Amino acid sequence: MSYSNTCDLESAWTISFEDYEPEEEGHRESLCALGNGYFVTRAAAFEATADCIHYPGTYRAGIYNRLVSHIEGEDVDDESIVNLPNWLLLTFRIEGGDWFSIDNVEILSYHQKLHLRHGVLQREIQFRDSLGRQTLLREQRFVSMALPHLAGLNVELIAENWSGNLEIHSAIDGRVINNNVDRQKEYSKQHLEPLETGTLEPEGIWLKMRTCQSHINIALAARTRVFVNGNATDSVRVYDCEEAQVVERIHLSVKRGSAIAIEKIAALYTSHDYAIGESGEAAQQAIQDAPSFVSLLDAHKRAWALLWMRCEIDIAPVEYLRAIRLHIFHILQTVSPHTTDIDVGVSARGWHGENYRGHIFWDETFVLSFLAPRFPTVARSILLYRYRRLNFSRHLARQHGYSGAMFPWRSASTGREETPRFQFNPLSEHWIRDKTCLQHHINAIIAFNVWKYYTVTNDITFLCDYGAELIIEIARFWASIVTYNPKCDRYEILSVVGSDEYHTAYPNTEIPGIDNNTYTNVMASWTLCCAREVLNILPPSPCAELCYRLKLSQDEIEHWNVISQKMHIDFHNDGILSQYEGFENLSEFDLQQFHEQHGSQRVDWVLEAEGDDINRYQVTKQADVAMLFFLLTEKEVTVLLERQGYQFNRKQMQRTIEYHLQRTAHQSTLSRIVYAGALATLDSDKSWQLFAKACFTEISDKDSKETIGGIHLGMMAGTLYILHYHYLGLRIQNGSIYLDPSLPTHLKRLSISLHHRSNDLQIEMIDNHLSISAASANTESVKVTCQGQTMDLQPDTSVAINLAHTKLLA
Ligand code: BGC
Repeated sequence: MSYSNTCDLESAWTISFEDYEPEEEGHRESLCALGNGYFVTRAAAFEATADCIHYPGTYRAGIYNRLVSHIEGEDVDDESIVNLPNWLLLTFRIEGGDWFSIDNVEILSYHQKLHLRHGVLQREIQFRDSLGRQTLLREQRFVSMALPHLAGLNVELIAENWSGNLEIHSAIDGRVINNNVDRQKEYSKQHLEPLETGTLEPEGIWLKMRTCQSHINIALAARTRVFVNGNATDSVRVYDCEEAQVVERIHLSVKRGSAIAIEKIAALYTSHDYAIGESGEAAQQAIQDAPSFVSLLDAHKRAWALLWMRCEIDIAPVEYLRAIRLHIFHILQTVSPHTTDIDVGVSARGWHGENYRGHIFWDETFVLSFLAPRFPTVARSILLYRYRRLNFSRHLARQHGYSGAMFPWRSASTGREETPRFQFNPLSEHWIRDKTCLQHHINAIIAFNVWKYYTVTNDITFLCDYGAELIIEIARFWASIVTYNPKCDRYEILSVVGSDEYHTAYPNTEIPGIDNNTYTNVMASWTLCCAREVLNILPPSPCAELCYRLKLSQDEIEHWNVISQKMHIDFHNDGILSQYEGFENLSEFDLQQFHEQHGSQRVDWVLEAEGDDINRYQVTKQADVAMLFFLLTEKEVTVLLERQGYQFNRKQMQRTIEYHLQRTAHQSTLSRIVYAGALATLDSDKSWQLFAKACFTEISDKDSKETIGGIHLGMMAGTLYILHYHYLGLRIQNGSIYLDPSLPTHLKRLSISLHHRSNDLQIEMIDNHLSISAASANTESVKVTCQGQTMDLQPDTSVAINLAHTKLLA
C-alpha cells in the first residue's frame, strides 16, 4: 500500500495515498468515505459503477429494508441497510475517445488525500488517454456537515495538450443493489424499486425510488454546472430519464490549456425525514436553493471546525494522533448532531458499507463514552433508539418466557432480533446455524450506557422519562432469566453466549449455549444493583409514578437484591475467573501453531472445515471476561464479587487477564481494545502494545479485507475510551471529574478537551505532569479530584499537578 506514513502535527490531519492500487480500492472507499451523521457516501471513484474494483455506496443512517432469501432450503428474511442511488456518477469523454475511467487510462501521477479537519476528499490524477491526450484532473468532494441533506463534487480538468469537444455525463444512478459483501452473495440484493425521474428548469435532474418492503421513499436531486476558465458556460444539455437512472449530458468545446470545472451538488431526502412535505419535492427544492460549491464547502468546513473544537485531542507520538483523529472523524461522520433528529443507533461498521447489514450490536458503548461528555444531546438520541424499542424488547422477553425487556443481540428498524439464521463458512462452503443471538449480555451494556450517560450529564429528566424504565425493565429480565440452584444456594444464568462468540455450546451436545458466563453474570448482578440505585436517586414523585406504572413492588426490588448477592460466578481451581462454567476442562489449543499454519484465518472456520468443533477448545474469538475490567474499575469488580461472597484480589485479576489473553485469537477488532484497557494499570507495556496495534488496524492492515464492508467503529471509539478512561483514569460522577492517570511510558503526551455540563476543560498529561484548565467563557466552577485532592476550578484558571510529588502548583 502506498499510504503515506510520514507524520507531523499538520500531516496528522490527512490520510494520503500516492498511487492507485485497484486491489486496495474497496478498503480506501470505506476508509475515506464521507458523511455527516445523516448519510455517508463511500469514496468510490466518481466515474465508477460497481464492479470487481469499485463499489459506490450511499447509505442514509437507519434506512433499512427486509428481503427474503433462500438459504439451506429455508426462506430466511434479513433486514439490511440499503445502498441508495449513486449521486456521484459523473464521467466525460474527449472527442473520439472513451468515457473516462481510471482503469482505462495511463496514469502519470496520482494523489489522494482525505482531509480530516475539513471533511474533504481530494484526488489529483494526471493521465494520458489512448490517443495521447494528457489531462490533469483535480477532484474535491464533501458530504455537508452544515446542511445534512447536501453533498458536493467538484471536478476540474486541465486540457494539457489537446483541444476538442468534451462531453460530460452526470447522473443519478438508481440501478444499484446491495452487493458490497462477498459472504452475503447468496442473499437477495434488490432493495429499491423505481418510482419517478425528472428534470428541472433551468438545470437539474432528480430521481425517486422506494425500498420494496419498508416502503420508504428515497429522493435524490442533482445540479451540475460547468465553468471554463472560471466562467459559467451556457452549454447544450441533453437529458435522458430512464426508469432507475436520470442522466444529463453537457457538450462543450475545449481549447488546449483551458481549465474546465464541473460542479455537482446533490440532495438526498427520504420519506422518514422531518419538516418536509414530500421527499421528491424537498430534494428538488434543496438543489434549487443550494448556493455554489464554494459557499457550501465553506459552511461545511465551519461546521467541522466547531465539531473539532469540542473534540480537541493531542497525543504524542504524533503518528498516533493521526489514527486518533481518523477515529474521531469517523465517529462524527456516523453519529453527529444531525443524528439527533433521526431514529438510529450506532451501526457497527458506520454507514460506510454493508457488512453486518448496518445492524446495531453493543458497540455503542465505546462511542457513547466519547460523545456523552462532548455532545450529550447526540448521546441521548442514541439511547432513545433503545427506548423506542423497549416495547418490542418486552415482547421478545415474553416470547422467551422472561419478564421485563430482552433486547436483541442485533437490531435494526424494529428492535426485532436480526441475527441471521446462518453464517457462511467460506473455507468449507457450509452454512452454519448462527447461535450468537444468545448474547444476552447486550442487555447489561444498554443499562450500563444509560447509567453512564446519567452520571456524566446529570440529565435527571432523561433518567426520569426514559433511562430508569430501561434499567428497571432490563433488571427484571435478569431477575427472570436466572435459575435458582438449591445445591449451592446460588442463582445461575444458563444457555447463553458470551462476547467470545466462538463458544456457543458444550462439546458433543446439540443444546445451544453455555452456562454461567462470568461477564454476563457479573454484569447482570451489576444491573440489579444499578436498578436499585436508580430508584433511590429518582425524585419521589417520578419514582412513585414509575413504580405505579410498572407495577414495581418492594418485594420485587428486594428479590433483585437477593439475586445480586447470590449469583454463581465460576472460578478455576487456582482462583482465576473462568470464562464460563467448564471452560477450564476444554482441551488446550496451540494458537501459535495455528497462526503459523493458517495465518489470520478464523479458528472456528478452519476447525469446522476440518470436521472439528471450536467448542472443544480453550480458544476464544475475542476478549470476554476481560470486558469486566474494561468497563469497571478494579475496585468496582472486587466490590461486586465480594458482595456475592467471593474473594478477589489484584493478583487474581492479573492472572485472569493473562490466562485468557493467551487463549484469545483477537478475531474481532474489539478484542485488543478490551485487553489494552483491562491491562492499563497492570501491565502498561502490554497494554500499549495492544493499543498501538488497534490504532493502526484500519489504516494499514493490508491483509484485512474486512474494511471493504465498512469501518470498525467500535474499535475506533475503543481507542478513545482507553485514552480517556484507562490512561487518564477519567471518571465523571456526581458532577465531579475524577482523574487517576497512568500513562504508558510510550505515550509522551495526552491532552483532551471536555465539554462538561456546558463548561469547557482542557486536561493535559505530560510525563508526570497533569494540568487542567477551565475556559474563560465557563460560567461555573468545575470540581476536579485527583489523588485524593479536590479542586474547584474557576473559569479561566488552571491547575498543574506533579503526580510524582502530588504538588499543587497553582
Ligand atoms: C464481534 C461483536 C461486535 C460485532 C460488531 C463481531 O465480530 O464479535 O462483539 O459487536 O462484531 O462490531
